[in-house]
Parts: sequence; structure tokens; C-alpha cells
Amino acid sequence: MIGATLSRWTMSYFAAALVALMTAEGLMAAGYGYPAAAIEAPETLILVHIVTIGWLSILMCGALFQFVPVLIARPLYSDALPLPTLGLLLTGLVALVLGFLQLAGHAPAHFAFFPAAAVLLGSGFALVLWNLGRTLWSARPLPLPARFVVVGLFSVGATVFLGIVFALVLGGATSHSHFVTLTSAGVPIHVIAGLGGWLTFTALGVSYRLLAMFMLAPELSGVTTRGAFYVGTAAIAMAIIGGVAAVCTEANLQTVLSVAAILGLGAFLLYARDMQHIYRARKRRTIELNSRMAAVALGHLAAVVILIAVLLSFGALRQHIAAVVFLTCFGWLSGLGLAKLYKIVAFLTWLECYGPVLGKAPTPRVQDLVVEGRALKWFVLYFVMVWVATAALLLGEPLAFRASAGVILIATVGIVAQIVRIRRLADVSATARLPAGVHAPRLLFSLVKPV
Ligand code: HEM
Repeated sequence: MIGATLSRWTMSYFAAALVALMTAEGLMAAGYGYPAAAIEAPETLILVHIVTIGWLSILMCGALFQFVPVLIARPLYSDALPLPTLGLLLTGLVALVLGFLQLAGHAPAHFAFFPAAAVLLGSGFALVLWNLGRTLWSARPLPLPARFVVVGLFSVGATVFLGIVFALVLGGATSHSHFVTLTSAGVPIHVIAGLGGWLTFTALGVSYRLLAMFMLAPELSGVTTRGAFYVGTAAIAMAIIGGVAAVCTEANLQTVLSVAAILGLGAFLLYARDMQHIYRARKRRTIELNSRMAAVALGHLAAVVILIAVLLSFGALRQHIAAVVFLTCFGWLSGLGLAKLYKIVAFLTWLECYGPVLGKAPTPRVQDLVVEGRALKWFVLYFVMVWVATAALLLGEPLAFRASAGVILIATVGIVAQIVRIRRLADVSATARLPAGVHAPRLLFSLVKPV
């Protein structure tokens, strides 16, 4: 990655995202939202969007500002835009939360929170699409991992468009018939576009490069990888375009989503086969903690697919959809996010501090920034408790869910503490920490210069 430029504000994205994650876990432990409240209750909607926008989307945006340039070996279109973009996303999330609180009668009714959320979140995500879109456009034809990201960006565009429609209808800003129909029947499309197209498909694409890079395995672009891309794209297009068309023409949305699900399963199986190949073909035989935990997160993606299939076969998917969304958000997406953060923060901090003096002064290795033994217990506690929490949701045990959410929060704080130590070079020996010409890194942003 020598020759790449560090993204100045990626660390701020990571910090904001981790605060949102711990806030959501604290709310769940306090019994806020589902299962104490209904799945469509404003409290649950608040929790869902702190997780999906505040944690997962902001984490993904921060990572993409750093890794899209790596995927295509071109600089980011604008390194200045990410900071105002983060401001818009965070203030937009606050406005959306206030809009949901208004629905619950806990915020003054005369403020136009939902329209404000629509404008702020719409502009924030538009700036994300503009900055990454211009960067990707300059590097056509794109390598396969970058094409996954392009489909992910279209998916977040669709997710946000639907979210804006819902917010404007719920906020009474519009009563256009198509928008009202979309709001009453379009939530599944919004969810699939957000969790499936934006967060999962983008993560799959980036993982092809990151896992190959960190495990010194060959990068794949063969039949199975192209298959995973095209079949996955077809599944997402079917769910979003087919879904919206079905809702607006009152056709059968269930049928459309079932076809999308079958295509999605096909793409997942091709991807799983590729991941198996990467793990087997890797040159780095000792798998680092981040890659082991990424494998556990991938196992959770498989568990989500199996859980959906089992629930569908018993006709109980609707009844247990909360457990599926929870396992997707906390087992697969958050598990992968935390595992990758543990490596990415170490890698970027090493690059920022020691890249410029490489070969000129003795420098520690990336691995010297981390103490895997100490972090491992927090990751194990985290994943085990995600299982306990999922079981509690499936068995309808709200108290057990709250207790496990509390332990998940403790595990997350443990992991975050490791990440902060890494960023502060706390585990690098005092003599090796700051050789001549090296400055201590700032916690929330990177001092940007080519390395
Ligand atoms: C970016 C990723 C996003 C994801 C993954 C996501 C996910 C979800 C989920 C899971 C629900 C259903 C929750 C439930 O029924 O308990 C939902 C509903 C909703 N979302 Fe989002 N969302 C995202 C972005 C947005 C944005 C940007 C907005 C607003 C600008 C928004 C506005 C809404 C509204 C208003 C509802 C409630 C719809 C209703 O109950 O009729 N969402 N979203």
C-alpha cells in the first residue's frame, strides 16, 4: 500500500461509529426498543438507525474513503469533503432520532425533524456517493472488488431514497400516493437494500482484497468470483427495482423477494467457496487474530442464511425477523467490522508513523502494535454473547436479551480499549515507539502525507 495516501478523517469516522455502537448496546441493555417495544415502535426504529447509520454506515464510509483508493490505486477525489460529510450524517441521524421521538410523543410536534433528517442524511450520503463515485469513475475499467463497491453505493442510494420517502410521509411533508404506498409496503425493500446491498455486498467486495492482502493469498477474479458478483448484483437489482415496481403496481412483492433470495443464496455459496480457497491458498500460515475473527464473522453470515432458510421452512420468518436482523447486524456485520478495525487501525497507524522513516530508522512491525492474546478474550466474549442474545430473541426472553446486551457492551468496550491502545502505540516499547522523525499519531485524524 506504499504510494497510497492516508485518508485524513477515517479515524474520526471510526471513533464516531464506535460511540454509536456502544450507545446502541447500552440502550438494548437498558431495555429500550425491541423486544420491550414492538418491532415497528419508534423506540425500535431509533435503535435500528443508531446501529445501521450511526455505526455500520459511518464505519463503512470511513473504511471506503481509505480503501477505495487502495482498491483502484488512485487518490480519493477529495480529502476535504469527508469531514463535512461526517457532520451531515451525524446531524442527520440526530434529526431522524428526534423525528422518531416525535412519533412517540417525546419531542415537540412543531419542529420538522423528519424533513430535516431527509435533507441532512440525503446530502451526507450524496456527498459520499459523489466523492467515491468520482474516485471510482477515474479508474475505469474497475477491478472486481471495486465493482462490488459500486453496486453497494447504488444500494445505499436506494436505501436512503426510500428512507427519505418514509421520513417525508411519516413527517406529513408529502401524501403523494406512490410515496404513501411505498411507506406502507416498502420497508422490506429498504432493509434488504441497506443490510444486503449496501453493507453486506460492499463488505464482500472489500473482503476479497483485504483478506487476500492480510493473509498473503492470491487475489481471485475467476469464474466463481465473477459469478458471485453478477448473481449477487442480479439479486439486489431484483429486490430493489423489482420490489419498488411490485409495490407501485400492486404486484406480489413476496414472489419478487423470493426470487431475489434464491439469487442471493447462489451468490453467497459462490463467495463462500472463494473464501475457503483464499484461506487454503494463503502464504501466511499463522492466521492473525483479525483474520480469525473475520472468519468467525463470515460463519455468522452463513448462520443468518441458515436461520432464514429454517424459519422460512417453518413459516416463521415474519415472527422471528428481529432475531435475523440482530444476528445480521451484530454477528456478521459488526463482528466483521470490529475484527477489521483491529487490523486496519494498526495498519494505518503503522503506515502513518513509520512509513515515512522506513529504511531510514529502526521501526517496529505492524504486529508489534497489537497484543492479540489480550484482545482475543473480548472477541470471544462478544461473539458468544451475540449467540446468547439471538437465542433469547428466538425464545422470547427479554430479560436474558437485556443481560446479554449488557455483556456485549462490556466486550465491545474491551475491544475499543485495545483499538485505542493501538492508536496510541501503547504496546510498542518505549525505545522503539518514536524513532527520529516520527510523531505520535493523533487519536481522531491522520496527518496526511504520501508514504
Ligand atoms: C443506511 C442504511 C439504513 C438501513 C440499513 C436502514 C434500516 C431500516 C430498518 C431495518 C427499518 C425497519 C425497522 C423496524 O421496523 O423496526 C427501517 C425503517 C425506517 N427507516 Fe431506515 N435504514 C437506513 C437508512 C435510513 C435513512 C437514511 C432514513 C431517512 C432518511 C431511514 C428512514 C427510515 C424510516 C422513516 C423507517 C420507518 C418506516 C416505517 O415504519 O414505515 N432509514 N430502516
